[in-house]
Amino acid sequence: MLLWVAGVSPFSVYGADDDVQRIEAGRRIATFCANCHGASGVSAIPNVPNLAAQNPDYLLAQIDAFVTGKRKNAFMEGLMKVLEPADKTAVATFYAAQPAPPVSVVPEAQRVAGGAAFTRLCARCHGDNGHGNATTPRLAGQQAEYLRLNLERYLNLSGERFYAPMTAAVTQLGDKNIPAVIAYLRSLP
Ligand code: HEC
Ligand code: HEC
Repeated sequence: MLLWVAGVSPFSVYGADDDVQRIEAGRRIATFCANCHGASGVSAIPNVPNLAAQNPDYLLAQIDAFVTGKRKNAFMEGLMKVLEPADKTAVATFYAAQPAPPVSVVPEAQRVAGGAAFTRLCARCHGDNGHGNATTPRLAGQQAEYLRLNLERYLNLSGERFYAPMTAAVTQLGDKNIPAVIAYLRSLP
């Protein structure tokens, strides 16, 4: 039985056995997602995000953001509306439990410059290792094109998603430094 406690993450109210069951239920739901997000959440399409090892609470929050239309993507908005609450929790638990995406080898100068910018402007929210937390996404190993697309969206307020502190952070970073930060994030395990 699902026990959702108001204000408490649904991920904290289950025991280990329930987790195993939810991962298996999530694996079945994820077959509908695999064409785009990959069988274990590592996407083969550059503008489709990896979901593997992403934080489950963040995944759930984004699923709901598509449902309410706070986050805009015509396909994802439609698909997320057909998921029951238990399906959403299960699929988020499944992806969170998958091994992290592979790291990329990137030019050293870019990695160093990107790392310095990330430490200065991003790490306080996304974590020193880019692993995020319940409210802030993991960025380590994320798809390069997806990262670029979303950083530009926050920067240009193009309307697909809105989070003022992200707009402030990318504005401080500056358009020209985006490629270095992406290279750095691609190199993080
Ligand atoms: C037709 C391709 C396609 C399918 C199938 C698909 N997705 Fe997506 N998904 C996308 C794209 C593209 C985005 C990025 C949208 C954007 O740029 O904002 C996305 C974004 C997401 C995000 C946000 C991730 C983040 O880092 O913010 C989640 C969560 C997600 N999808 C879950 C799912 C789940 C669960 C399923 C299956 C039930 C699914 N998707 C099926 C294409 C797809
Ligand atoms: C004040 C905290 C904060 C700071 C500082 C911050 N971020 Fe974020 N970031 C967030 C949150 C929260 C989200 C999710 C917002 C949403 O729901 O759209 C996010 C989303 C993102 C995304 C979208 C990831 C995905 O999976 O869809 C990227 C990429 C990103 N941030 C990169 C950065 C970079 C690069 C910097 C530094 C230049 C940075 N962030 C600084 C909190 C922060």
